[in-house]
Amino acid sequence: MTLDEFLEACRRLADEAPARIALAASPAEFADVRTQLVGRKQGRLADLMTQLATLPPDARRDAGRAINDVKSTIEQLLDEREASVRAATRADGALDLSMPSRRRWKGSLHPVTLVIDEIAEIFRELGFTIALGPEAETEFYNFTALNFPADHPAMELHDTLYLGEDTLLRTHTSPVQVRTLQQYAPPVRILAPGNVYRRDFFDATHAPSFMQLEGLAIDEGISFVDLKATLSEFARRFYGSTRRVRFGPSYFPFVEPGAQMDVEVDLGDGKGVRWVEILGCGMVHPNVLSAAGVDSERYTGWAFGMGPARIAMSRHGIPDIRVLYDSDVRFLEQFAR
Ligand code: DAH
Repeated sequence: MTLDEFLEACRRLADEAPARIALAASPAEFADVRTQLVGRKQGRLADLMTQLATLPPDARRDAGRAINDVKSTIEQLLDEREASVRAATRADGALDLSMPSRRRWKGSLHPVTLVIDEIAEIFRELGFTIALGPEAETEFYNFTALNFPADHPAMELHDTLYLGEDTLLRTHTSPVQVRTLQQYAPPVRILAPGNVYRRDFFDATHAPSFMQLEGLAIDEGISFVDLKATLSEFARRFYGSTRRVRFGPSYFPFVEPGAQMDVEVDLGDGKGVRWVEILGCGMVHPNVLSAAGVDSERYTGWAFGMGPARIAMSRHGIPDIRVLYDSDVRFLEQFAR
């Protein structure tokens, strides 16, 4: 082989290389074409190296420079092309075996759902069943039957969202008491979870829609002692037997006397254990029993209402109610069991 023939062979290799390189699309194909073109032991460049040794000594300097140029040109082309293919493969979502696998999100129940389930289980053990009522209610069920006097300020207090003349989004789950008593004769023991609505803006402690849990127990001879015993037992099971419970007076039109139950809890905010109001309760007002068609001379009973979101927040030290509505998986996955 003459020097000219050698230089010509180098040029041909340089000319052919781009087309060959353009065909490679995977890491394996790039490895193949790299070996074929510029491999040390075999391939086109290795062949030329063997030829180089056969050239006359005075031709080797030029031949050596030419072959080095070809080698670095091809290698540079291979590197650039391989990098851009790798980048494009990622961008358009095709298989990239070097990519770390996608993380699997573990589904979980919402912390408020978990609280409701847990409370429902405790009351199930105490003989309560679940009752549900509609979220769109009438003034009768939401207010009148619950002994709210007409134009009572409490109706405004509740910041009602009206749907029409007489229809509204229930402001509490208490109407389920009336609907249940209309449908079933005592003895009645029910727990009614559900959404309620109030004309509120979202802030750290308020939401325009939230969950409530209503409880109702009606039978012959039920007294305030039953109320205290049952709700204390609930608190003991939910918060643990070391937590203290206390009852204090409160007012709701549908109970007489009305009360609230406080539990000594640690909110996890560094302020230690303190009294926190957990629920409103009381002896069902005779007017409510009558409105529901129950003989208020024969039957008595008690009721309570609580907010599971508040309870979830106090339990987990959640400072802002809005995170319960965000559906942020980073928050929710912490409750996966
Ligand atoms: N309905 C009340 C509210 O939304 C909560 C409540 C208080 C329910 C006392 C009751 C009760 O059944 O006895 O604020």
